[in-house]
Amino acid sequence: MGQGIARVDGRAKVTGAAKYSADFNAPDLVHGYVVNSTIARGRIVSIDAAGALDFPGVIAVFTHENRPDLAWFHRDHKDKDTPTAHFRPLADAVIRYSGQPIALVVAQDAETARYASTLLHVQYEMERHQTNLSALCDDPDLSLDQKMIVKKTPKPRGDAPHAFAGASIRNCTQYRFPIEHHNPMAPHASTVLWHSNGKITVHDKTQGSRQTHDYICEAFELDKADVQVVSPYVGGAFGLAIRPQYQLFLAVMAARELRLSVRVVLSREQMFTLGYRPEALQTISLAAESNGALNAVMHDAIGNTSQLEDFTESTVKWSGLLYQCPNVKLNYRLARLDLYTPTDMRAPGAASGVNALEQAIDEMAYLLDMDPLQFRLKNYAECDQIESRDFTSKELRACYAQGAERFGWARRLHAPRSMREGRELIGWGLATGVWEAFQQKASARATLSPDGHLDIATAAADIGTGTYTILTQIAADTLGLPLSSVTTTLGDSSLPWAPVEGGSSGAASFGSAVKAACEALKKRIAKHAIAMSGPAFGHVTEDDLVFTGGQICLKSDPDKRVHLKEVIKRININQLTVDCSAEPDAASKKRYSRNAHSAVFVEVRVDEELGQVRVTRVVNAVAAGRILNPKTAANQILGGIVWGISKALYEEGILDHRIGRFMNHNFADYHIATSADIDDLEVIFVEEHDSEVNPLGIKGVGEIGIVGTTAAVANAIFHATGKRIYALPITMDKIL
Ligand code: MOS
Repeated sequence: MGQGIARVDGRAKVTGAAKYSADFNAPDLVHGYVVNSTIARGRIVSIDAAGALDFPGVIAVFTHENRPDLAWFHRDHKDKDTPTAHFRPLADAVIRYSGQPIALVVAQDAETARYASTLLHVQYEMERHQTNLSALCDDPDLSLDQKMIVKKTPKPRGDAPHAFAGASIRNCTQYRFPIEHHNPMAPHASTVLWHSNGKITVHDKTQGSRQTHDYICEAFELDKADVQVVSPYVGGAFGLAIRPQYQLFLAVMAARELRLSVRVVLSREQMFTLGYRPEALQTISLAAESNGALNAVMHDAIGNTSQLEDFTESTVKWSGLLYQCPNVKLNYRLARLDLYTPTDMRAPGAASGVNALEQAIDEMAYLLDMDPLQFRLKNYAECDQIESRDFTSKELRACYAQGAERFGWARRLHAPRSMREGRELIGWGLATGVWEAFQQKASARATLSPDGHLDIATAAADIGTGTYTILTQIAADTLGLPLSSVTTTLGDSSLPWAPVEGGSSGAASFGSAVKAACEALKKRIAKHAIAMSGPAFGHVTEDDLVFTGGQICLKSDPDKRVHLKEVIKRININQLTVDCSAEPDAASKKRYSRNAHSAVFVEVRVDEELGQVRVTRVVNAVAAGRILNPKTAANQILGGIVWGISKALYEEGILDHRIGRFMNHNFADYHIATSADIDDLEVIFVEEHDSEVNPLGIKGVGEIGIVGTTAAVANAIFHATGKRIYALPITMDKIL
């Protein structure tokens, strides 16, 4: 552990050996293409499928009129904690958003299915829709209660409105963060293999094979043993595959109805009909004493949700956590739009809330004429004031110090527009990042073969984060084996239970389970080794032994050793498999808060005449406990930085509110950062020893990279230009 080894699945991925959900095949495979609604709200009056059905090669067309009558469609799922139960594809004639799947055309090949989908004649009855969050909030004909759903937030601390009203140094700013789309490289796809005995094997794009499995069994009332989900590779997800998506339901439905193997792949355009990061309208009010001490923090956020459910993020809680402050008030509300339900997207909540707060903090530092780093240090929170408890660890000070040192922050001139080179204004900005260190209960299996090879298996997913690699490292390390003697199998619902890979919890959750399984296996082997080598070892316990290099030796006398293989030979083969679970320590969870932190330093160069921004340097210093693999961990932070830059400068889902649909539903019009936009990025992992957070000391690194980065870019743009821009993305037109 701790070595920056290359991904164990890297070769399979770059050579094409790795199979994604649309890569699996069957001799009789047929193809489904989804038809999406073209209106945002109303009803389907009729769907005429005759033309499509007459087309050569078309096998079937499924709509709400001829879909199987599953009990699932009649059940009231309102109170149920199964997110996708709220949306049931082809449930009825009601249209709740533009892009809603209304039919599946199945044909001999994908092209025929796609073409035949254009032959469907759909008649709608349209109703007035609302997809504009700002317009809804400003609508004078609606009361606040009609527009908004108030969600729970941490209880207020002190009296922030009073403190703010009486303050001489105060500032209130409003931010608009637009909708963003995930669009991972591999699109959502499901291949359902139909077996003659009625069982199905499902290859789905998912962050959790067990969750997909449960969803299918529940929706179609299938026996758990009759469904197997096998999704060894995911091809990027970022939260979009946390929930089963509609192509999964439609593919399974078609396979069961037709008794054929079916594949449904979403087009890039259809990828824009799934979940997204909700819009966030935020108001942040800060007040400070003249010595720089924060005296009031108020953070109000409004997010959009759908007509189907309350999609809730923790957008504002960070504003009560990140800085020492006696008076805090947080509000979070939702507004229903005629759009599909948002979905978790890398650092859900924090990417909106913290990136807004950190811009407001920068602005307040300037009001106080303080260096933004000094201002943050002045208000450093030693403990979690929301929960009144300590952190398991918090090396944020070291993040600030090491990041600043590496970046050269001390050479920064404070005044905006004070650093330039030729026609370019140079800006240096800083922001803080924070994320929660989650751990969920998970299980894993460790199996030793007689030849000394170790197999690790769990239903967990590797969504591209490096899970295969770190689990292999943990297992090899625990049993003292070379990495080449360990293989890890993931993404199969028949393997020991694991939750979805999400919330940056994968390493801590699956890693702890693998560690537990390997420790249990080690104990078993140690017992046999002692029994075998009694005369040589003397009176020892397993604690006196070290497993290293495929051997077991005495700690006190490493020359006394026995080969692992020799021990295995003596053991009953059935004893060489161990299933173990690991879960967070409930008492510790109550007693301590667990968070990862970061400090992000950004240099931008802004062309004064064109308003063009180049992000030329980023240093992101992260304290996230033990880093299992600095290479894969740095990859995660780098990805988060790129996305943070992209969020600051380019990304925005643009709706045409007249028709209620996303218009930039492709990579030409939905801008993301490309390689040409990315310059010098550096990741620092600050040492943080934490034996409290979990036995492995892991906090997770999947999401924190984006938190803070966007704000640091915005703050650097202010430093360069003297302009505060409150609506993302910060495009040239806003700068000029
Ligand atoms: Mo992440 S948004 O929890 O996949």
